[in-house]
Amino acid sequence: MQTLNYPEKVKIVEVGPRDGLQNEKQPVSLQSKLTLIDELASAGLNVIEAGSFVSPKWVPQMADSGEIFRQMKRHSGVTYTALTPNLKGFEAALEADVDEVAVFGAASEAFSQKNINCSIDESLQRFQPLVELANQKDIKVRGYLSCVLGCPYEGEIAPQKVADVAQKLLKMGCYEISLGDTIGVGTPVKTRMMLEHVLQVVPLDQVAVHFHDTYGQALANILVALQLGISTIDSAVAGLGGCPYARGASGNVATEDVVYMLNGMGIESGVDLNALALAGRNIMQALGRESLSKVAAALSQQ
Ligand code: HMG
Ligand code: MG
Repeated sequence: MQTLNYPEKVKIVEVGPRDGLQNEKQPVSLQSKLTLIDELASAGLNVIEAGSFVSPKWVPQMADSGEIFRQMKRHSGVTYTALTPNLKGFEAALEADVDEVAVFGAASEAFSQKNINCSIDESLQRFQPLVELANQKDIKVRGYLSCVLGCPYEGEIAPQKVADVAQKLLKMGCYEISLGDTIGVGTPVKTRMMLEHVLQVVPLDQVAVHFHDTYGQALANILVALQLGISTIDSAVAGLGGCPYARGASGNVATEDVVYMLNGMGIESGVDLNALALAGRNIMQALGRESLSKVAAALSQQ
């Protein structure tokens, strides 16, 4: 079953508790978040983005991230990560004993302004001392890059621009570059072109893909990434998600759908699909909505 070009194993970065919940308008209880994180770890996810140390005025839903890190049950072998946009956020993450942090920049000037209130260059200057301090403390830093396949304000984004900013994040000391199709507009051929540009400047094992599924293209785009040998995929249980500063950004690709596809291709992820689906059902019950995962819907009919 295994095709030669595909990776044998994939690392899934579960972003549901952060990217998934950050856009929820209704308050989500601390207990629901703690249960979700615990159930995701029990399902075998070993990288979980559990919170975000950003301004609570900008993203109120993430205001309890410190409490989450302090109260959550930590499973051994699981890396619990968080977003940190600046030194203030990084200090708070350190206090909360976060295992790994992430800075987040953009390939689009307009989106950078809307999301983090500064230009791309200013954002890189802001990240530099954070990355240096983190590296001194042996804390790995992931670098997110948003709008790699289109921007809600600027439209098309040149693949070369994506590669340029990705290279800067890498040179700064980020160990992994996560390429975000923030508004889910990408299609397979464009995805391939963008990835080929980035792979000229970032080593294959340091590239991750992060697709939102607004137009239902995420699995097709992930397949393209797998064909190129990329083996780190971001996803959110139940297809939760969206960015408050990107109009039209709906959920991330559902982790259940990714795991089902990987299972079918004989690619190992270490995730138990039934346990994952249970975590998805429970959080959707807490939110009072249906899951966006087709696989979860199919499993619930069995
Ligand atoms: P700013 O207003 O430019 O910053 O915000 P500032 O330094 O002028 O500070 C203003 C106020 O924020 C001050 O408080 C600071 O103390 C406070 P005040 O004096 O007004 O009471 N502040 C903070 N508070 C808590 N934690 C902090 C922090 N920093 C400053 N770390 C800032 C700049 C970046 C902070 C702001 O724009 C922000 O928080 N933005 C949040 C953006 C965000 O979280 N977006 C969603 C995540 S990104 C995403 O979803 C995309 C991704 O999934 C990939 C993809 O899909 O493409 C990653
Ligand atoms: Mg995202």
